[in-house]
Amino acid sequence: MSLLITGGTGYIGSHTVVEIQMLAASEGKEWDIVIVDDLSNSSTKVLDRIKQITSKSVTFIKADVCDYDAMNTLFEQYDIEAVIHFAGHKAVGESSEKPLNYYHNNVSGTVTLLRVMELHKVKKLVFSSSATVYGDNISPLNETMSTSATNPYGQTKLMIEHILFDLAKSDSDWSIACLRYFNPIGAHHSGLIGENPNGIPNNLLPYVAQVAVGRLAQLQVFGDDYDTVDGTGVRDYIHVVDLAQGHVKALQNLDKITGCKAINLGTGNGTSVLEIVNTFKEISQQDIPYKIVPRRLGDLATVYANADLANELLVESNKKFTNDD
Ligand code: NAD
Ligand code: WQD
Repeated sequence: MSLLITGGTGYIGSHTVVEIQMLAASEGKEWDIVIVDDLSNSSTKVLDRIKQITSKSVTFIKADVCDYDAMNTLFEQYDIEAVIHFAGHKAVGESSEKPLNYYHNNVSGTVTLLRVMELHKVKKLVFSSSATVYGDNISPLNETMSTSATNPYGQTKLMIEHILFDLAKSDSDWSIACLRYFNPIGAHHSGLIGENPNGIPNNLLPYVAQVAVGRLAQLQVFGDDYDTVDGTGVRDYIHVVDLAQGHVKALQNLDKITGCKAINLGTGNGTSVLEIVNTFKEISQQDIPYKIVPRRLGDLATVYANADLANELLVESNKKFTNDD
């Protein structure tokens, strides 16, 4: 049986492909992996890197998940058992400049994928959601809290979650894990795959890394007057390999989920911007020049997960879970 991974040449997708091949094989469940990606934010070079790390090949199809005919042909060609759906655009700022692009790519792309899955009776899905759906709730954030969004990117994640919940309510054959990622960082220890954003990075860690190697002159720290340990913003940074392993666990535990379940993937710990900068400096032995600038519009002081549900569902128990409301 095959596992379809949309967006599998991207940052989180590529690490997940590696972990599925390494971990799932050791637990006796081998998957034939089929990646579909339109390469809008990644490159096929990643495929060679994955092979170098795992000694296994994957099937790659260059296609847009919004393309119904291409997706249908793919499902006719391969015996797909489950899907992990990473494909999507993710730049918060750009989503306000090009909202239609984001609603089309993320929301229409997901609806197209779901229609094809339904047609082919493939009803197991792991979806990349985001902690952004918690809006301005107070941390620690847990899955029972209300959801809202403050930008088009966040709206697309929220809309997709609603679509998934409605779909799962309409047909109890669906098993969907809606994984709400906190802040993924880092790279595979081989150094062969990682995050390589085009242009100036939006996120903290790739920015810090580019300052460390001298590609950017200095980091701008957005605000030091928050009510936090040192006044700078606090986030829940989760290593991308841990996040990838969370997907393996979700896949292995999909049978426990009847319907659609939202699950946080975070560490449960908050770290400030200056703590990140100082730790990076200490470990890399590189100077990270920075200056404090005003707060970034839309930023919250503190965002971190309550990770109990992931521990319960993905790590510990045999408990069964049913649809969220
Ligand atoms: P990424 O851009 O590295 O990976 C996404 C991949 O999807 C890319 O390879 C891109 O080429 C592909 N893609 C985009 N639109 C497509 C389409 N229509 N058809 C086929 N392929 C398409 O991003 P990532 O950081 O790996 O994120 C993966 C998923 O996780 C995204 O859905 C993102 O919204 C979500 N997410 C990311 C973060 C984060 O901070 N990185 C946090 C929360 C959620
Ligand atoms: C982290 C902290 C900044 C850059 C974003 C998306 C979210 C999710 C993850 C997809 C904050 C500070 C940052 C810089 C800084 N993505 N910072 N200087 O904003 O928590 O979340 O990525 O779903 O939807 O909004 O992550 O890495 O941008 O910022 O001081 O140059 O670093 O203010 O406190 P964020 P981030």
